Amino acid sequence: MTRAQKFLAPATRALHPPAGKPQPLFNGLATPTVRASTVVFPDAASFDARYASFYDGYTYGLFGTPTSRALEDQLCAMSGASHSLLVPSGQAALSLVLMTFLKPGDHVLITDSCYGPIRAFATGWLASWGVSVTFYDPLISASIGDLMTSVTKLVLVESPGSNTMEIQDLPAITEVAHANGALVLGDMTWATPLHCDALELGVDLVVDALSKYASGHGDVLMGAITTRSDDLYRRLKDMTRLLGLGVSPDDCSLVLRGLQTMPLRVERSSQSALTIAHHMRARPKIEAVLHPAMPDFPGHDIWKRDFTGASGVFSVLLKPQYKGRENEVIDALKLFAIGASWGSARSVVAPQDPTNGRTATRWTRGKIIRLSIGLESVQDLMADLDQALDHLPKARADSISEHARHATSPLSRPAA
Ligand SMILES: Cc1ncc(COP(=O)(O)O)c(C=O)c1O
Repeated sequence: MTRAQKFLAPATRALHPPAGKPQPLFNGLATPTVRASTVVFPDAASFDARYASFYDGYTYGLFGTPTSRALEDQLCAMSGASHSLLVPSGQAALSLVLMTFLKPGDHVLITDSCYGPIRAFATGWLASWGVSVTFYDPLISASIGDLMTSVTKLVLVESPGSNTMEIQDLPAITEVAHANGALVLGDMTWATPLHCDALELGVDLVVDALSKYASGHGDVLMGAITTRSDDLYRRLKDMTRLLGLGVSPDDCSLVLRGLQTMPLRVERSSQSALTIAHHMRARPKIEAVLHPAMPDFPGHDIWKRDFTGASGVFSVLLKPQYKGRENEVIDALKLFAIGASWGSARSVVAPQDPTNGRTATRWTRGKIIRLSIGLESVQDLMADLDQALDHLPKARADSISEHARHATSPLSRPAA
């Protein structure tokens, strides 16, 4: 303690670090979690000039800490981007882009298979703000040009589509969009940067909901926008200042930890999901399995061309005679948690019904059972799905050998 400090009251001493004892530079294996609202400047002139480092330095905790910058750098390294911007959720990432780059009088094209809440944002807030919104068939490819007008400023793609899993022809769409002067925003959360280089396919702004695979344990909400454009990044960053959007260093630290195991988790989920997808397709009560890595899935060839792998999320449809009974199957599952979101270590299931949620195309196949396959044993998950399907009455076409096989499963129950 210095002489001057000795004369300070204990309450003051509790607040001020001892003079002459700077924090040592500690170089641990994990990125430190640095919490801050106030960033301290050496003098008033530096404070006056702080916005010079707004885009890449530290001005206020809301706009960047060493932990959030480390995560942004890591995401850039993974995706070949020059900028990454963190926001409080995947939905915030999507809506921030739309708010930043669209103004009254503009027109936006959005895939009909988009994530539901962004559809609600577009038809609600964007429309009332004076932006005209057109939803388009996700399989439209280069014909998207027919829907573009002189005021079309942005095209939103999501591949595969939420729940219905349509694979979009991203190079064809981005080429036409750019030729017409429009930006392309891509929600590429399903593929993650591991399995699709969307920037290389022409997408200008890539959204990844880090709440899914990047964090990976169902306990963090965060979204990222990555881009190669300095100008687009700066405009987005300016908007975060106006809206007061930032992320917690503690959450960033969890995502940084998640990234270290993400390749292994995604690989395992993906392998298990494909095994389960094939298994489900062979079940007599299943009408269809919607999984882009299955060779007969429409769009599989484009998926093979543009993606290097799959994740663990796919959908299944029950046969017509079981339509309307999807919730019974879901309720009978023992190892799958029922809930929104996906991409965590535990398997999750959700009923989804696109029937009334589309305007450019019609969905006539009824309710979907969306599965997010986690890291449990694939045999246990298959047995769980089998016993849940057993709760439906046997159709005449159900095979006897099918029933016999279930009887040996550890989770099997007699058919209802
Ligand atoms: C495809 C897709 N994009 C974006 C989001 C939004 O992410 P968040 O839950 O972080 O808002 C979700 C969430 O389920 C999603 O499935």
